[in-house]
Amino acid sequence: MPQEPAAIASVLQESRAFPPPEAFSRAAVVGDSDRHERLQALSREAPEVFWREVSRELHWFQPFTTVRSGSGPDTRWFEDGTTNLAYNCLDRHLEGPARNRAAIIWEGEPGDTRTLTYLELHREVCRMALVLSELGLAKGDCVGIYMPMVPEAAIAMLACARLGLVHSVVFGGFSSEALKDRMNDAGARAIITADGGWRRGQVVQLKAQVDAAAPSIPTLEHVLVVRRTGTPVAWTEGRDVWWHERRSLVGEQHEAVPVGAEDRLFILYTSGTTGKPKGLVHTTGGYMAQVFLTSRFIFDLKEQDVYWCTADVGWITGHSYVVYGPLLSGATVFMYEGAPLHPGPDRFWSMIARWGITILYTAPTAIRTFMKLGDDHPRRHDMSTLRLLGTVGEPINPEAWMWYHRTIGGERCPIVDTWWQTETGAIMIAPLPGITTTRPGSATQPFFGIRPDIVDGQGQPVPDGQGGYLVIREAWPSMARTIHGDHARYLTQYWSQVPGSYFTGDGARRDADGCYWIMGRVDDVINVAGHRLGTMEIESALVSHAAVAEAAVVGRPDEVKGTSVVAFVTLKAGRKGDEALKGELRNHVATEIGAIARPEEIRFTDALPKTRSGKIMRRLLRELAGGGEAFGDTTTLEDLSVLAALRQDDEG
Ligand code: PRX
Repeated sequence: MPQEPAAIASVLQESRAFPPPEAFSRAAVVGDSDRHERLQALSREAPEVFWREVSRELHWFQPFTTVRSGSGPDTRWFEDGTTNLAYNCLDRHLEGPARNRAAIIWEGEPGDTRTLTYLELHREVCRMALVLSELGLAKGDCVGIYMPMVPEAAIAMLACARLGLVHSVVFGGFSSEALKDRMNDAGARAIITADGGWRRGQVVQLKAQVDAAAPSIPTLEHVLVVRRTGTPVAWTEGRDVWWHERRSLVGEQHEAVPVGAEDRLFILYTSGTTGKPKGLVHTTGGYMAQVFLTSRFIFDLKEQDVYWCTADVGWITGHSYVVYGPLLSGATVFMYEGAPLHPGPDRFWSMIARWGITILYTAPTAIRTFMKLGDDHPRRHDMSTLRLLGTVGEPINPEAWMWYHRTIGGERCPIVDTWWQTETGAIMIAPLPGITTTRPGSATQPFFGIRPDIVDGQGQPVPDGQGGYLVIREAWPSMARTIHGDHARYLTQYWSQVPGSYFTGDGARRDADGCYWIMGRVDDVINVAGHRLGTMEIESALVSHAAVAEAAVVGRPDEVKGTSVVAFVTLKAGRKGDEALKGELRNHVATEIGAIARPEEIRFTDALPKTRSGKIMRRLLRELAGGGEAFGDTTTLEDLSVLAALRQDDEG
């Protein structure tokens, strides 16, 4: 067990409650409490019947006969069925009213726009699938996707799914080093990228990053390049191909490849408690069923909605709730390429007004950033089309929740605070906006068929109101099936801490009404601006610098980002800790991982405080980091060994 549950004692007491507005409930996908109770009873008493009914709405080439087999980490869903996720997102809608509905409305950072109907998106996906198969890629091969937020990012994912290729999307903000590590771990045969993408008025040179990584990825044969910015790029003949050239040479009809429900759909890397990111493997059938149902029920998706999830496709939120979930539901997805505050602080609000966006799903960090900028920016725009708001990725403080509710939602929009993880694949705890009474700061109730619990260090349930570890008692359809190449790590990390249950790594408490309050990570993972980072990963990046002997990274509470990165560093003999070296180390982390991991602060120290057994005393470092300048001039070397000696008995 990572930390004593006592350390995650809950202090937040929030009594404000917001029942769903009557008009919202009346029109909601799930708004009728009798129906809700029936669904709840069915999902509890007969989860297999429940998920069978859900999955029947989707297309199966070979219908499944079993819903669930195996148990715990070895649970399999719809095992003998064959299907195709891209077929379900696209082809399934072509005979109905969605055929000519906008599937994707896109706005580039410079202000250029594109709209693709379901029919047009289907054609583009077919074309890319044809190009990929002409390159010799076939079912089971892994393809990396390293793209800006342009429609081709979604097209690439869907084209892979259409062929049964396993995609591994790497966030465009990750460095070439990080890309290289992930592509090597996944064994990628191809990477789909773009010349660049726009961010804060600048071109992010994605192709150049791929070029830097490519020579160290021995499995890589092809790089398919989308032209977005028109920036000149280096070219490797025989390896690199332009999407726009190949696209014009292929037809627009392609038969989706039937894949087994338990066949791999994607690998997505996320940070854990070691220096090496984990490639979580998601499979097809169960993932499809749960992202479909959660999208429809939690976002209350209807045909007239324009739904905007602000996440990048490089994260799980982008997979499940930018691309797959809403397209499975036949919804209109709005997609934006660039930075939230470019060219001005009201970019988001102006897009909501211009496109008539009805549902906004974003991260608490963004909300806190906007809140700090003041109410004038949103007030200048007519956002009366908004009818539902969502948050994800980190705990939302009640103050930010109330601001979102009042200033963005005009006090009429329910807020769905959705708790889930890369590992869970889909939303696990969240309100149903037409049913659930929401409370600022609580993700409220488990979704149908999900059985969370709060336990102590021995795995025993704790009484309501008491903090503990959040676990999930039973397998669910969209759970990750393994860590790519390391099944043993999957078992120990997630399924052995509390035998028989999935261990989330989060602390939480449940109140007397059965509402869940997530308190944050209890392991060495930190959540910076809604991005999940492993402290060990940043430490390894620091230690790879020639001047560094040892490093310890902790999170410090931050008003906007939730947490910021503080690194305590001891230097090799003869190296001087000065401002220049701090800058160098911060940039070194950005090069090794990406700008999102760049430490906010570096503090040089003579020694790191350790327990007698040699474990770094992270709690002490967290206290020190949180104490800011109280512990003296940050440019001088701190002698933490003295403090350590004083505190040893505390930490054991
Ligand atoms: O600590 C929880 C936090 O984000 C972690 C998962 O991060 P990641 O895999 O990157 O996925 C983020 C998007 C699903 C969780 O362990 N987290 C996620 N959603 C919430 C949250 N913390 C509090 N409230 C949430 N709604």
